[in-house]
Amino acid sequence: MDLFRLETGSIINGEIRKGNGRQVHEVRFPYNQQLVGTIDFALEQDIEDAIEGAHQTFHNEFKHMPAYKRSKILRKAAEIMEQRKAALAEILTLEVGKPIKDAFGEVGRAIQVLEFSAEEAKRIQGESIPMDAAIGGENRLGIVKKYPLGVVLAITPFNFPVNLALHKIGPAIAAGNTVILKPAEKTPLSSVYLYEIFKEAGLPDGALQIVMGEGIHVVPPLVKSEKVSKVSFTGSYAVGKSIYEMAGLKKVTLELGSNSPNIVLNDADIEESAKSLVKGSFVNAGQVCISVQRIYVQKEIFEEFQQHFVHYTKQLKVGNPLLEETDVASQITKESCLKAKSWVDEAVEQGASIVAGGEIVDGLLQPTVLTNVTASMNVVCNEIFAPVVSIIPFETDEEALKLANDSLYGLQASVFTTNINRAISFADQLETGGVWINEISTYRQDNYPYGGVKQSGVGKEGIAYAIQDMLQTKFIGVKY
Ligand code: SIN
Repeated sequence: MDLFRLETGSIINGEIRKGNGRQVHEVRFPYNQQLVGTIDFALEQDIEDAIEGAHQTFHNEFKHMPAYKRSKILRKAAEIMEQRKAALAEILTLEVGKPIKDAFGEVGRAIQVLEFSAEEAKRIQGESIPMDAAIGGENRLGIVKKYPLGVVLAITPFNFPVNLALHKIGPAIAAGNTVILKPAEKTPLSSVYLYEIFKEAGLPDGALQIVMGEGIHVVPPLVKSEKVSKVSFTGSYAVGKSIYEMAGLKKVTLELGSNSPNIVLNDADIEESAKSLVKGSFVNAGQVCISVQRIYVQKEIFEEFQQHFVHYTKQLKVGNPLLEETDVASQITKESCLKAKSWVDEAVEQGASIVAGGEIVDGLLQPTVLTNVTASMNVVCNEIFAPVVSIIPFETDEEALKLANDSLYGLQASVFTTNINRAISFADQLETGGVWINEISTYRQDNYPYGGVKQSGVGKEGIAYAIQDMLQTKFIGVKY
């Protein structure tokens, strides 16, 4: 097959910045290391121009654009993306190494994110304040209006390069802000494609700037700039924390990692829960912030659950992500694959048992299921971001809750049960930003509030919720 090939760079005020001594970075297909494109990293001047361009476009043009026009651009972008679904899915597979069917899934979600953003652009509203509620407030009118912030900086990860970028760009445009996107350097090609879509949809050139480069060089000047009003980042806790510290008084949203707990109670549908939890453990080779990593199963159903779980794990097709039938493919780099394998080996040395997978075959870590793990093992207490899951027995609901909450993270969790009282009791007590009942922690729909507690982050995404954090609130009073 002819691989897609793109040679590009940062896009500043609509112009591609290439050559002239810029460092050329190769983008390779994670599955077999074939070259799929090159990106020229931004120079200092490019970063300054991106900031200035986004700032000027906001003040001179974008903040005056009415909501219906912003909505129309977002809707048009959704329509164009729908027409180019196949091409975009292929780019995603080639740069991320994710199975083509999952790439189509990501593009499908991205289209909906654009549609949600188009709808929400028309729903940004303020309120009136009952001024006569305070003594002496008679004959006064108080209104609250919402205004865009200015320039939003979006820093995005490699695992969902299109959809997670749109979770920031969509709400920012809906709210009337301009955007600087800094995509992950391993997966920058799809963002160039996104730019083209927005351009065709009618977005002014300077309203979306794309800055290519390594985070360590590019992110600090962007985050520290006085002309950037808001930073929205998805990625690791370590990087998120440093961004938080650099950002000063700017608004910040951080979507960070987790080691999601999923609890299967003794009254659950055992086979159904095992089947869906297999999907939730290995989709995108486990490289999802809400991937199922810890499964707590009540003792009396443990054996039966494990049998089903191993059975469905072994049915997964592991291989070339470009093939329709592939379920699990490459991790983003050889290093991340080796790191995950070393955590598995370390767990085995510490007493864990492998009941499926555990080996790297043709460069791919096979879907790996561990038992006999302990809470202090890396595979349990730290985010592995790989196709590795642990199944852990428990006796009482209290014990399950304690084990699940024994984590530095708190993004999404799940409980499988047919008892509504137990379900709600767990939902109330799990220390996470979201709880699913009879659905895997890996499930996310793009219109609900999404964001964690503890080291999983601050703030919420989910279009309407993200928009609220991309607006400023102004009070206007009238005495009459
Ligand atoms: C993430 O991995 O951060 C997001 C997961 C998703 O959007 O499905």
